[in-house]
Amino acid sequence: MKTRPGTTHGRPESDRISTMKKKLKPLTQRPAWKALAAHYQSIKKLHLRKLFADDPKRGERLTASTSGLFLDYSKNRITDKTLQLLVKLANESGLRARIDAMFSGEKINITENRAVLHVALRAPKNAPIIVDGKNVVPDVHAVLTKLSGFAQRVRSGEWKGFTGKRIKNIVNVGIGGSDLGPVMAYEALRHYSDRSLTFRFVSNVDGIDFVEATQDLDPAETLFIISSKTFTTLETMTNADSARAWLLKGLGGDVKAVAKHFVAVSTNAEKVSAFGIDTANMFGFWDWVGGRYSMDSAIGLSTMLAIGPDNFHALLAGFHEMDEHFRTTPFEKNLPVLLGLLTIWNTDFLGAETVAVLPYEQYLKRFPAYLQQLTMESNGKHVTLDGKKVNYQTGPVYWGEPGTNGQHSFYQLIHQGTRLIPCDFIAFGQALTPLGRHHDILMANVFAQAEALAFGKTAQEVKAEGTAAALVPHRVFEGNRPSNTILARKLTPEVLGKLVALYEHSVFTQGIIWNIDSFDQWGVELGKVLAQRIVPELESPACPPLKHDSSTNHLIHHYRNLKGNL
Ligand code: F6P
Repeated sequence: MKTRPGTTHGRPESDRISTMKKKLKPLTQRPAWKALAAHYQSIKKLHLRKLFADDPKRGERLTASTSGLFLDYSKNRITDKTLQLLVKLANESGLRARIDAMFSGEKINITENRAVLHVALRAPKNAPIIVDGKNVVPDVHAVLTKLSGFAQRVRSGEWKGFTGKRIKNIVNVGIGGSDLGPVMAYEALRHYSDRSLTFRFVSNVDGIDFVEATQDLDPAETLFIISSKTFTTLETMTNADSARAWLLKGLGGDVKAVAKHFVAVSTNAEKVSAFGIDTANMFGFWDWVGGRYSMDSAIGLSTMLAIGPDNFHALLAGFHEMDEHFRTTPFEKNLPVLLGLLTIWNTDFLGAETVAVLPYEQYLKRFPAYLQQLTMESNGKHVTLDGKKVNYQTGPVYWGEPGTNGQHSFYQLIHQGTRLIPCDFIAFGQALTPLGRHHDILMANVFAQAEALAFGKTAQEVKAEGTAAALVPHRVFEGNRPSNTILARKLTPEVLGKLVALYEHSVFTQGIIWNIDSFDQWGVELGKVLAQRIVPELESPACPPLKHDSSTNHLIHHYRNLKGNL
């Protein structure tokens, strides 16, 4: 990877980016966008049945792969011209320059004036990346070394709790990016985890989350990881306080116990210390790592404890391979770019409002939840980089469940409902623990679902089966419903890294084309501020005068009444 300094020709990055943006036409005025709009009109009635019938090699042609990850995107409602125009749109949107800007540490998160450098978290030692004149890669590796040392001490039993007992339970306390990545990775890589350790994840401020996670644990054997980039998040700090109280109560009240049972992962040493955690037991990261892009930073401590440092390094290597693929591969063969462009096509031209992510791999059961934050906190934006309201749709709603469970629940709507729901199927050639015929049956279902969605079943075909005339319309499958299929040999730490990076960079691609800031999250602020204002109104013994709207006032009174405090 080449070194590219964080400031260019003595100009601050924000200037450089706004200069760059000025050269771009608004999205809907770019020639490729206009051409895509016209092209859509000419192909909107084309059915996947015809596209496949006219091109017997389509299913082999419209695929791309990199280092063991294979993407079949042939079941999208596209032609070769669609692809050419989408790639043209990427070029007209300056995607290549923006990829380079991200990888070189430019401050592309302009509303927070920050670099966006999750790619530095998995950069090899000899690949410098400069932010504000400093190479950040050695710091990344120093934290990784510290994490590995700590993980080894806990896993080997060398690290003892306050009473001298070995640590057997690890509880990660965090929310959003400080929870979803760790819990997803733990579940995804459970096959590789040390089964003598118990892992729990507490995120919700609903006390039940903490109570249920700890009710069967022995405090003397329990280590809490307080994971919070800011170390100010209300949910996490409330749970961290409860954790400390729970531990002290269980261990006789000596505050010295905290040092043996609490570690922190944060960017905020001051707050960590104020909470009472020795900063020697703190693992740091940096403001250029967004919360939803942080599972491969020290936020991944629980992952490393579960699967061990070597597997964690394999995960990072997988991320890095996809980073390099994204950075260097022509857009026509670039998996994240293709995935991102197809999402633009489905969202802005076909009118899809959601994307269903359907892993046919039970270990990936939390992957859709993880992707929800990654995609929707990133691209749920309504203004462009220069603050203008967009006149096109941005980030779609991501959702999903592992197959085959979803088939017996919501797939009905995907097959025969009135909405267009593009699907991403994710599946593997090998089960991690083969069991009889299970894996072939599982895989038969993936292929069958994608086939049924694309090709459906015509009225003629239904009639030919001898179906009663009145039932024919009910049994017709229109088909023409787009999907991608992503395949890999098996779910390893490395493959998980590639998969996550694939979606990270797909989100990036979308954000660049939509010309939005995919790296801020101002939309979560208002609710946080209002909640802080309401807390005392619920807690005070007498209800203070309320100055909300009539609905909120009434709800607060009703709540106080229900809890018996009026
Ligand atoms: O509220 C949104 C958010 O800021 C996320 O972006 C972040 O992942 C989460 O809260 C948790 O933040 P922290 O790690 O600072 O506790």
